[in-house]
Parts: sequence; C-alpha cells; structure tokens
Amino acid sequence: MPDLTGWSVLVTAGGTREPIDPVRYLGNRSSGKMGNAIALEAHTRGAFVTLVTTMAAPEPIENVVEVETAAEMADAVWSRVLEQDVIVMAAAVADFRPATTHGTKLSRRTAPTIIELEPTPDILAGVIERRSDCLVVGFAAETGSLDRAVEKARSKGVDLLVANDVLADGSGFGTVTNQVTIITPDGSAQPWPLLSKAEVASRLWDMIPGLRG
Ligand code: PMT
Repeated sequence: MPDLTGWSVLVTAGGTREPIDPVRYLGNRSSGKMGNAIALEAHTRGAFVTLVTTMAAPEPIENVVEVETAAEMADAVWSRVLEQDVIVMAAAVADFRPATTHGTKLSRRTAPTIIELEPTPDILAGVIERRSDCLVVGFAAETGSLDRAVEKARSKGVDLLVANDVLADGSGFGTVTNQVTIITPDGSAQPWPLLSKAEVASRLWDMIPGLRG
C-alpha cells in the first residue's frame, strides 16, 4: 500500500447548486460519497488532504473548504493548484447555471416560465492550465455508454479518467458502491468490478503514485 506521507492532495466532492432565487437552485444527485471516500483514503495513507465540497465532510479531513456553486468551487480549486501533488475531481459540477439569479423568491404568479442558462467555468480545464507537475485525475459521469469517456480522457489532458455509468445498478449517484472504468490518455480502458466506494478509493490510491513514472 503506497504511503502518501508528505503528499498534498486536493479532492472535490458533491454536486454544485446554482441558484435561481434565494430558495431554489439547479442541482444534481451527487451525495459526496465518492469524493469523501477518496479524501478519507488519502488521509489514512498520510497525505495532507484538502476537500472542496458542497456536502458534509468526513471528520478526520484536516482542511475542508465548503462551497456551493461551480464558480465558488473554481475559485477554491484554482487558488490551490500549485500547492498540490494530486488533484482528484470527483465532484459533479453543473455545466450550466441560470444567467440571472433573482434577489427575492419568485412567485407563482410572476415567475418566468423559461430560465435562461449560461455555461459555468470548466474547473478541470482551469486546473490543467495552471498546474506545473501536479497529477490530475478526472471523473466522467456517463449514461448508458462509456464511449464519450475515452474521448474525454484524451481531450481533457488528465493523467487518469475514472468513468462511471450513473444509470448502472449500484453505480454513480448516492450509492455506497460503484463500478468504474479506468481510462488512460492513450485510450486504454480497464473496467473494475462493482466495489464499495471505499475500495474504489483504495485501488485508485494504489495506482495514482505510479503515474508519476
Ligand atoms: O457523489 P456520489 O453520490 O458518490 O456520486 C459520485 C459521482 C457519480 C458524482 C462521481 O462518481 C462522478 O462521476 N463525478 C463526476 C461527475 C461529473 O461532473 O462528470 P462530467 O462527465 O460531467 O465531468 C467530467 C469532469 O469534469 C469531472 O471530473 C468534473 O468534476 C469536471 N467538471 C465538469 C464540469 C465543469 N463545469 N467543471 C469541471 O471541472
């Protein structure tokens, strides 16, 4: 089991929430379990862990940065890139947010029936631009087929992509298990069996230090 003593690791977890008004948001089903398991395993192996999350963090994690939106997550991650040895992006980040956030609660009578959206920052792309020698592990949430994930591994510039089919039984959002496929930038894909998220995290940390080459 590789020892991570002396390593600085940043993990993102949870789903971002993009406000429509003070009481409503656009969100997704991420529970934070996958990211938390990765953070916890890195901590157990001796790393100094920063967890940037929209959800409750496991108690032993030393440095927790609570965020809500993709923009807040981007600021929290980008400002810390140069301090990290590894960044693992397990959060489910909204790709779009409402173009306007209303200052008061929309009423049924006056609310618009169409919400205009605008793109959120691509946090992973910003990490790749800013990094020096930090390893970057991305996740890909796919529905039904992992074909797009192979292309993502190539185009996103990550050292490793962890793809999961969020429609598969026992996988993806909210579950305690996950079936992931590990994709390297050269397009090779290694499916792992259905495992607990803790076991996925453990196998990832067995693998990541070796990516330094
Ligand atoms: O939290 P759980 O309930 O345990 O569920 C786990 C999970 C399903 C959320 C997790 O396993 C997972 O798949 N996380 C990635 C979800 C996702 O946003 O995938 P994506 O294919 O849309 O994004 C690809 C990568 O780009 C991800 O690393 C994501 O963090 C990142 N991203 C996406 C959008 C954006 N604006 N900025 C980003 O950095």
